[in-house]
Amino acid sequence: MATTSLSHVYTDTHLHYTHIVPLDFAAVDDLPESHTWTNTHTTRAGGGGLHLPAAVPTINLRSPSAAALVGDACREWGMFQVTNHGVPAGLVEDVEAHARRLFELPAEQKLKAVRAPNGATGYGVARISPFFTKLMWHEGFTIMAGSAVEHAKLLWPLHYHEFCCRDAMDNYQKKMKSLAYKLFLIILKSLGYDEDNQETSLLSASLNQSEGALQLNSYPSCPNPSRAIGLAPHTDSLLLTILHQNDTNGLQIFREGGVGWVPVTPLKGALVINVGDLMHILSNGCFPTVYHRVVPNETRRHRFSVAYFYGPPADSTVAPLVAVGRQFPRFRAVTVREYIGLKNKHLEKAIGLIKI
Ligand code: OGA
Ligand code: NI
Repeated sequence: MATTSLSHVYTDTHLHYTHIVPLDFAAVDDLPESHTWTNTHTTRAGGGGLHLPAAVPTINLRSPSAAALVGDACREWGMFQVTNHGVPAGLVEDVEAHARRLFELPAEQKLKAVRAPNGATGYGVARISPFFTKLMWHEGFTIMAGSAVEHAKLLWPLHYHEFCCRDAMDNYQKKMKSLAYKLFLIILKSLGYDEDNQETSLLSASLNQSEGALQLNSYPSCPNPSRAIGLAPHTDSLLLTILHQNDTNGLQIFREGGVGWVPVTPLKGALVINVGDLMHILSNGCFPTVYHRVVPNETRRHRFSVAYFYGPPADSTVAPLVAVGRQFPRFRAVTVREYIGLKNKHLEKAIGLIKI
């Protein structure tokens, strides 16, 4: 297996899945006990007081102040939305339409592309599911390094080309990779590192060899949204995530200081960017790795999202950048493989385990 592939560090072998196959959501009228969460998990409160909490910043990437604003947003929020990002609206719409077509297949058809117990790609429940006793109102489909064609052939033997090759998924992944790299350079610059800096050149170069992963998410209309969870709270593991959400609410981020859960409202044409654990480590804790979750939509709409997870290849090492500000490193160096392994075992406690 090539060292550039992330798929082999994401296998499920060590996880004890109750099952990998999501519920057949179309076949149930009521929220089953298996998917009913207690109120402490599903509280929707945000703000608490009289004032609505501030929303995550939206940054026009073509504006002259974009670089400074991206740096500020990473420091203060760990999340922001971008417009004028250069990803054609038609391509995003195509990918969303493909995701919708995939998840709207009959349950038995989707089973043909179900994730293998020792696999990383294909159809299945959220990867964080084994950490919770209740199941989520969610189904996902993961694509890594060429897996789309293999699964599309199983789902649409005669028309698989439309899904994976001719344009949408491949094209989208390429656009995501170049946008992510562009953002990565902007972010490094905001930390005081130029493109040709010795400390970061190895990491920058390794990013060219990584394809990242694409995660299609579906959150069907829910019969009892206040007692269900779409995707339980988590942080993303890699450097950056680029998320497209359809025009259906649900994504929330957790803000400290008594603010609580704040919605990230879909903005037509914008993409959501968030800092992941590896970027938190790289920034020496300067950027928060943001806790987020998805709550089922109250108006019985079907939410779809497409997340692109961006990071260096499995064998790359990530260590805090400490030259600027002359700080001491707050984390020890880790390989991507090692960190994913810790995350798969310990979820949010993983980051604490590498603190110095
Ligand atoms: C994820 C995620 C949010 C969403 O896939 O890690 O946080 O809106 N998705 O689907
Ligand atoms: Ni996430």
